[in-house]
Amino acid sequence: MKTYRIAQTPFEVTRIAYGCMGIGGGWDPGPLAAQTRVAGLASVKAALDVGINFFDHADIYARGRCEEAFSGIWKEVPGLRSRIVIQTKCGIRFENDPAQGAPQRYDYSSEHILASVEGSLRRLKTDYVDILLLHRPDALVEPDEVAAAFEKLYVAGKVRYFGVSNHSAWQIELLKKSITHPLVVNQLELNVVHNQLINAGVSVNQDEPALPTHGEGTLEYCRLHDITIQAWSPLAHGRIARALGGQGDERMRGAAEFAASLAKKKGVGMDAVLLAWLLRHPAGIQPILGTTQPDRIRESCKADDVELTREEWYAMLTAGRGSKVA
Ligand SMILES: NC(=O)c1ccc[n+]([C@@H]2O[C@H](COP(=O)([O-])OP(=O)(O)OC[C@H]3O[C@@H](n4cnc5c(N)ncnc54)[C@H](OP(=O)(O)O)[C@@H]3O)[C@@H](O)[C@H]2O)c1
Repeated sequence: MKTYRIAQTPFEVTRIAYGCMGIGGGWDPGPLAAQTRVAGLASVKAALDVGINFFDHADIYARGRCEEAFSGIWKEVPGLRSRIVIQTKCGIRFENDPAQGAPQRYDYSSEHILASVEGSLRRLKTDYVDILLLHRPDALVEPDEVAAAFEKLYVAGKVRYFGVSNHSAWQIELLKKSITHPLVVNQLELNVVHNQLINAGVSVNQDEPALPTHGEGTLEYCRLHDITIQAWSPLAHGRIARALGGQGDERMRGAAEFAASLAKKKGVGMDAVLLAWLLRHPAGIQPILGTTQPDRIRESCKADDVELTREEWYAMLTAGRGSKVA
């Protein structure tokens, strides 16, 4: 597969990464079921077999069971650890954690960041993670505290590089006030129908944007500062595919029909065309593919060889916005 260099790091990674949120079963508490473990490993092996070398996790995915399921790969594929890049995230806490009555919240305290990474390392059965992301902006963030935690993790050899997810340009600037390590990734929700960050750029100085334009400048900021942009839910978590079956609103169905027609023209499945749309963006966006089905992983990765023209790219944006650009 074709690769990108994650700027500010030595990592040469496949342009399509594999997201492990689905390999640990659902979100309910409880142990990892044997059947889920087997199915999860089959998904990871399918991703490795197509050549993917970047795996995205979070401490919270399936309440830790995704990291646990993933760790089975070390026995299956000896010598793999140094050949792949593992990224995980911290900072979201579920309700009733640690005590009954605690609300769902974000927590960038040093204490929580350090405890979260220890948990991830234990479940992943590895001594280090390659990249640690702050998952969602904490309204109570103290940049000095984050910086102190990052420094401890770096010095202990437990985390090699750091980044963020769902952060705006100004939120990154605020963190950079204290954090001396480079922030190398910003992972953002981005797909043909959740196109706000791209739409914000093409709507500058217009009276009536077709869609909300929050996040204006985020993509441009990341490009300027060599922060790799990753796209989570690159297939809109299956909503576009399901719209072909009649689900979703008019805009979703329009986007699905257009993507399906373009896929037919390109001789690939619709998921591959949706990923190719992200890969065509000049920022070097890395989609985090989330399907758990080995066949879908293989079919989706055909995106690597799909070239979209400027006209095809804008036609897809038009379908995703539900209106043409002005
Ligand atoms: N940073 C964040 O805040 C954040 C948030 C969410 C996710 N993430 C990361 O992003 C990764 C990807 O997210 P995602 O799972 O939403 O990605 P996605 O690739 O957009 O969607 C995958 C989901 O769509 C379904 N799907 C895909 N193609 C389909 C088709 N043709 N027909 C029907 N269903 C289809 C899959 O079902 P099957 O499994 O059955 O194929 C799966 O449930 C996650 O694994 C995680 O690593 C990050």
